[in-house]
Amino acid sequence: MAFSAGLAAAAPADEAYWQMVGRQFPLDEKMIYLNAANVCPASRPVMDRHIEYLRDFQANPSFQNRYKYVEMRERLRTTAARMLRVSADEIAVTRNTSEGSNLVVKGIDLKAGDEVIVTEHNHPSNLDSWKVRARRDGFVVKAVPVAIPAVSGDALLGSIEKAITPRTRVIAVTHLTSTTGVLYPAREVAALARRRGIWMHLDGAQTFGALDVDLGSIGPDSYATSAHKWLMGPLEAGLLYVRAERIAGLWPAIVTAGWADNLKGARKLEVLGQRDDPRVVALEAALDFVNLIGMGNVEARMRALAGRLKTGLSGIAGVELKTNMQAELSGGVVKFKLRGMGTKKAYDALWERHRLSAASTPSGESEGIRFSPHIYNSMEQMDRAVAAVRELAG
Ligand SMILES: Cc1ncc(COP(=O)(O)O)c(C=O)c1O
Repeated sequence: MAFSAGLAAAAPADEAYWQMVGRQFPLDEKMIYLNAANVCPASRPVMDRHIEYLRDFQANPSFQNRYKYVEMRERLRTTAARMLRVSADEIAVTRNTSEGSNLVVKGIDLKAGDEVIVTEHNHPSNLDSWKVRARRDGFVVKAVPVAIPAVSGDALLGSIEKAITPRTRVIAVTHLTSTTGVLYPAREVAALARRRGIWMHLDGAQTFGALDVDLGSIGPDSYATSAHKWLMGPLEAGLLYVRAERIAGLWPAIVTAGWADNLKGARKLEVLGQRDDPRVVALEAALDFVNLIGMGNVEARMRALAGRLKTGLSGIAGVELKTNMQAELSGGVVKFKLRGMGTKKAYDALWERHRLSAASTPSGESEGIRFSPHIYNSMEQMDRAVAAVRELAG
């Protein structure tokens, strides 16, 4: 309770406030954790609520005790919808981004001759998934390249516009790429798609919980995300948004007990068999946690941390920064390459010498080390990370 009161009351501009936030996470202090784009730790309040309900469920799995989870899921739906500025009926509670995107990939009516536009930097769940279905149903998947770093929002939009033909049925892009951290002009892409009656799917794995995502204003037809990344929630929990007008046209990929023709809105997409109800409660706790801080404050702090990294890294001779500096073209993913050292060697050295947990792409155009900080990190850790890279760069 004291923690909650402190979080809501303190001014989020000062380091002491963010230190208090950082102390809510059980991270090993001997390590600098910079891999939010992969998995974020859950805060203690989120874990506590998860464990509390795990105990509740296992102690009393009777239907009578479990009725409350239905209500709790509806409350979660309402909270998530409010955060994303959409309606609760447009939200399905899924298991992760991969599942959400695949529900869209599998659920849209597509036939031979149709075309789907993706980008080369989409995650496999929004790239290979389309290609596999295309092999079966005979439609065409066109992957557009992504410049490193991005040239401009207009250039990103233009590359998609150029790929559109009268046969285009879907444009599936990534809100913020995990490869080089490009923030797509999602609103403009959605508007372009809407004008032509094309379904626009947005992969939000790297934006929900990192940026103050306003789907009402962006206007995609669907948006999939995970709880265990920037939202700092439980593993295997996620959300899928489908625009009200599109729900009837999306086939449910999974049908099992609890499914009915008259399920309201996107609920028909979350009937996946017996669910892990305590996990769904933990997802609600994760929303509560970021809402207590304020999603705008979370984004501002995350951007300040990422900005400190980018400024520091760009000042090192021998470092090629692959992520854009501009806020409108970037978010929490920071990618760079050391010109004088192999990426695998640099990645290993960062862990072995500095206990710096990052991610890496070993080869290809996105080759490099990925740092992705979040609100549990300190500015001092950003400076230590930059100093570690400077040391490697020689
Ligand atoms: C852009 C993007 N989309 C989708 C995913 C898949 O997320 P999940 O494993 O939670 O389904 C990831 C994971 O890193 C990602 O970066």
